[in-house]
Amino acid sequence: MPLTRQDLIARDAKDPLSSFRDEFALPEGIIYLDGNSLGAMPKAVQTRIAAVMTQEWGQDLITSWNKNGWFDLPQALGAKIARLIGAQGDEVLVTDSTGINLYKLLAMALDLRKKRKIILMEDSNFPTDTYIAQGLIKHINRDHEIRFAKREDMAAQITADVAVVALTQVHYKTGEIFDMEDITRRAHEAGALVCWDLCHSAGALPVDLSTAKADFAVGCGYKYLNGGPGAPAFLYVAKRHQGGATQPLTGWWSHAEPFAFERDYRPAQGLTQMLSGTQPILSMAALECGLDIMLRTDQQAIRQKSMALGALFLSLMETKCADHGFTLASPKNAEDRASQIAYTHPHGYAIMQALIDQGVIGDFRAPDILRFGFTPLYMRYGDIWDAVQIIKTVMDKALWQDPRFAARSQVT
Ligand SMILES: Cc1ncc(COP(=O)(O)O)c(C=O)c1O
Repeated sequence: MPLTRQDLIARDAKDPLSSFRDEFALPEGIIYLDGNSLGAMPKAVQTRIAAVMTQEWGQDLITSWNKNGWFDLPQALGAKIARLIGAQGDEVLVTDSTGINLYKLLAMALDLRKKRKIILMEDSNFPTDTYIAQGLIKHINRDHEIRFAKREDMAAQITADVAVVALTQVHYKTGEIFDMEDITRRAHEAGALVCWDLCHSAGALPVDLSTAKADFAVGCGYKYLNGGPGAPAFLYVAKRHQGGATQPLTGWWSHAEPFAFERDYRPAQGLTQMLSGTQPILSMAALECGLDIMLRTDQQAIRQKSMALGALFLSLMETKCADHGFTLASPKNAEDRASQIAYTHPHGYAIMQALIDQGVIGDFRAPDILRFGFTPLYMRYGDIWDAVQIIKTVMDKALWQDPRFAARSQVT
């Protein structure tokens, strides 16, 4: 018997994660397949931000740094993220952006491996990681180089001159997953350190930095952690490296005694040295709402549903949209990809704009990738059916050919 929409509605009714959808503000009539770029808003954010504004900022004013725990939020939120990525509470800090955190960690890694000159990266990594490494190399001016490798050659490229292997665990376009344990082990055997970018991993699949013996990691708060646009990012430094090197953006929050106002810099102990300056408290409060939802979920259940949603999308696309020129750019096997599926199509940009116009929100990544993300906390199996139906209509009726869908926006 062929699968029907009713079958999927029935599957939704039995889904152990189904109650979480209600905790997010999702507009009627929209199928949101872009939680891999900007997670949906937890409803709790509205009350929480209002409370921070009315009471903490509005009434308690500056006393909130002590009274309402503002000063310790980077550590407190870091300890919450630690539980999602297999780290200890005092190994993760919430602060700054992914890129700025990567700059700090790569600088430390190069200091810890002074005689080595190579940063090993994937040639198709998310560009900011590369740009940050290029900026750091230029700034420190000590003959370091990036060695770019293809994914399939990565292991062979971890040679004795590599200081640090800096990889994104889940590819931002294809969703393909690196074997974190294997790469980290190989890097350590070659005497190198490893820094993982977890932007597309944290909250999307179980991550275990401790078991993998990872050295460093970064990740953002605005994707699967549902922390809001521009949410603060996080960084991880394994205990054994804390204090072993000093991160370079040595602002007062990373000083041993910021409120002693000494003239010269003295590093704080432990992870606190990774801070730089004053943190965005309203954004931290929003992120905490997303984290508190995540901490009530079972990461294995999220992974199972994410794989099931992806597999359903793939098979429906195969049966309903096979003749429309989409080429799968993600691994076919659910085990090998995280929570997104990408296709290439020569008219990818216009097609995505037509889909958004029809209420299916995904995104486009140049030059030709349509990206669809599946966030198990608020996606339903029935949504997948409806989304593919709309993709089929957009293609059957060539709706994407409307000239207004060719105009490029700044953000794609
Ligand atoms: C893998 C990866 N790294 C980094 C970033 C962004 O970094 P930042 O938070 O510094 O803008 C993204 C954004 O999508 C990403 O996908």
